[in-house]
Amino acid sequence: MKGRFISLEGIEGTGKSTQAKLLSDYLKEKGFEVVLTEEPGGTQIGLRIRELLLSVEHKGMTAVTELLLYNASRSQHIREIILPAISRGAIIITDRFTDSTIAYQGFGRGIDQGLIDSIDLIATGRLRPDITILLDLDAEVGLKRNKGINKTDRLELEDLEFHQRVRNGYHNLAEKEPERIKLIDASADIQEIHNRISSIITNFIG
Ligand code: TMP
Repeated sequence: MKGRFISLEGIEGTGKSTQAKLLSDYLKEKGFEVVLTEEPGGTQIGLRIRELLLSVEHKGMTAVTELLLYNASRSQHIREIILPAISRGAIIITDRFTDSTIAYQGFGRGIDQGLIDSIDLIATGRLRPDITILLDLDAEVGLKRNKGINKTDRLELEDLEFHQRVRNGYHNLAEKEPERIKLIDASADIQEIHNRISSIITNFIG
């Protein structure tokens, strides 16, 4: 089988990681080789970069430093994990990829799209997932859900308006690329969301 590259995207508190794990288990049960991974992270180097990015001690990090670090982690992730998995015919599921950078650093931080594109070309060579599941949720509800599980990182400390801009960014991406990006309402319960995702992915894999 040809390798498949799937990403899950969404603002904070949408249950992305839970859904990525459920999808991975579902596909493994069907007999596929699945690689479940995440950004920032996915490699040893990526995990070190993740610590730098998410530490609340790094409040002074500039927007461009942030942009470069997310891309540095991605570049390593692609070469070390994603491309090898695709070429051996595995299904790779990543919790976040380039759409996160466009939504968070572009729409959230206000970095110019042209600058994001030029760095993306260096880091990814424009590699994109074959299909993206976008979990959509009201930003206030998402942030409250995350507070409930005591999850705090540097970006989660941004105000509600920031997360609303990120959500708008995702909507904008989904409108531009409806074939690749499948928007799902993340306010439904976990099992119902999983059923929707697994049916979209089953159709896609064929
Ligand atoms: P996570 O909590 O879903 O693992 O994501 C880590 C944080 O990093 C989350 O707040 C979103 C943010 N992020 C970006 O701002 N840009 C990116 O390119 C990626 C991959 C994540």
